[in-house]
Amino acid sequence: MALLPDRRALTALAYQLGPARYYQPAYRFIAADCGIERGSFLDVGTGPGWIAIRVADGRPEVDAVGIDTSEAMLEYAEANKAGRLNVTFRKMDAVNIVYPSGTFAAAVAVQAAHHWTDPAAVFAEVHRVLEDGATFWVYEADPDAEVPADWIARRGPFPPDAWVKRQWRQYGMAADRWAALKATAEASPFGPDIVDETHGFYRRLGCTK
Ligand SMILES: C[S@@+](CC[C@H](N)C(=O)[O-])C[C@H]1O[C@@H](n2cnc3c(N)ncnc32)[C@H](O)[C@@H]1O
Repeated sequence: MALLPDRRALTALAYQLGPARYYQPAYRFIAADCGIERGSFLDVGTGPGWIAIRVADGRPEVDAVGIDTSEAMLEYAEANKAGRLNVTFRKMDAVNIVYPSGTFAAAVAVQAAHHWTDPAAVFAEVHRVLEDGATFWVYEADPDAEVPADWIARRGPFPPDAWVKRQWRQYGMAADRWAALKATAEASPFGPDIVDETHGFYRRLGCTK
């Protein structure tokens, strides 16, 4: 019998108590800029669910779906959803998205790509489930970014800049890995016209079908 919670449960708890709180402004900015007002939205690697929730908020014609492989994360996502009717969370791997081709009007993956063991398969699968003309935005924290004042919610001096930067260095994506991810996107069915830009403290790739 296990006496200690497993590693995934501890990771989910740490994320729910930390980043999922102080990145709330970032989630709102990402939701505002993902280009959807109606239709189905996919949040790939939803974690505690906030991207899907913020995209659904104030958009009654959006049906937001968050997928994740971690049951522990999805339990927090269900709690954070707080009864919203236009958000659904499902346990699903991004390399095998159990929705018909052409289902989604937009998709986003935030801080998830650094976990992907087969990013080419993720790009191909998200491309399949998007409508023609829809965009998949892939975000990773930029370890070299400045700490923007308005993208992070603070209580008094917490979290301090030095702590935030340490997290970005630890979990963000260094330039060489980012370039490799972009090359994978360019070689995917999305083709060579991939947008690569800064958004807040993230870099993001815009992959349009
Ligand atoms: C660091 S969390 C980010 C959560 C959320 N997007 C956010 O920014 O708050 C990354 C999440 O991606 C999930 N994940 C990693 N690989 C995945 C895959 N292949 N399919 C679905 N989810 C995946 C992990 O389980 C984890 O919950």
